[in-house]
Amino acid sequence: MFADLSPADQAKYVAAKRAVELVEDGMKLGLGTGSTAAWMVRCLADRVKTEGLRIQGVPTSTRTADLARELGLDVVSLDQAGNLDITIDGTDEFDRALNLIKGGGGALLQEKIVASASDRMIVIADFDKQVPHLGKFPLPVEVLGFGLASSREHIARLLADHGLVDRDITMRMQGDAPFVTDEGNFILDLHLEQIPDAPALAIALNQVPGVVENGLFINICDRVILGASDGRIEEHVRS
Ligand code: A5P
Repeated sequence: MFADLSPADQAKYVAAKRAVELVEDGMKLGLGTGSTAAWMVRCLADRVKTEGLRIQGVPTSTRTADLARELGLDVVSLDQAGNLDITIDGTDEFDRALNLIKGGGGALLQEKIVASASDRMIVIADFDKQVPHLGKFPLPVEVLGFGLASSREHIARLLADHGLVDRDITMRMQGDAPFVTDEGNFILDLHLEQIPDAPALAIALNQVPGVVENGLFINICDRVILGASDGRIEEHVRS
């Protein structure tokens, strides 16, 4: 099966498989969203089937919930599960401090809530996701539909206060219509190129009244597992 995958999927599979090896019988898990996380769900389902592993999974999106159910995993809500042992998720970028930009798939809100309810967050990725500074990947910000234009203006002023003048802010689209999140909100993508102080920006963005959550995950990720198509694995642990 491995040989039939594209190099990109081989890298994702390698990282996902390694992360799933850390799962123990009886654990409650947060199940991330995205193409790498989908490999984690498949690897988990494989262990459940072949080893009789008993786990409960809390998905971070309807997409992940559908896949997990389809593969026979025990899917529960976060409120049913309570505190989680581990969340395993992908990322769009991570830096040396293991801070992340997430939300490329539009699931940042549930992803952050679920990761924050977990003892550990393990991120799985390929080597391209490692960056010296966060910000090349557009930063997703989930916003309410009410007062959207006003929130956008407020965000632009806030960015300027953080030394990020005249940066593009684009509405996330799906075809001809705005992309709508699982919670019924919209996403603004902030094209920042480089974020000088990500922890400060994460706090400031969430103070804009119309902002629901932003895609900066600061001090949430404990470990990053990187996979390569040649089977190489590298692990980074937050100090
Ligand atoms: C989903 O909202 C995102 O946070 C994803 O976790 C992130 O975009 C990584 O996705 P891929 O694994 O598909 O690159």
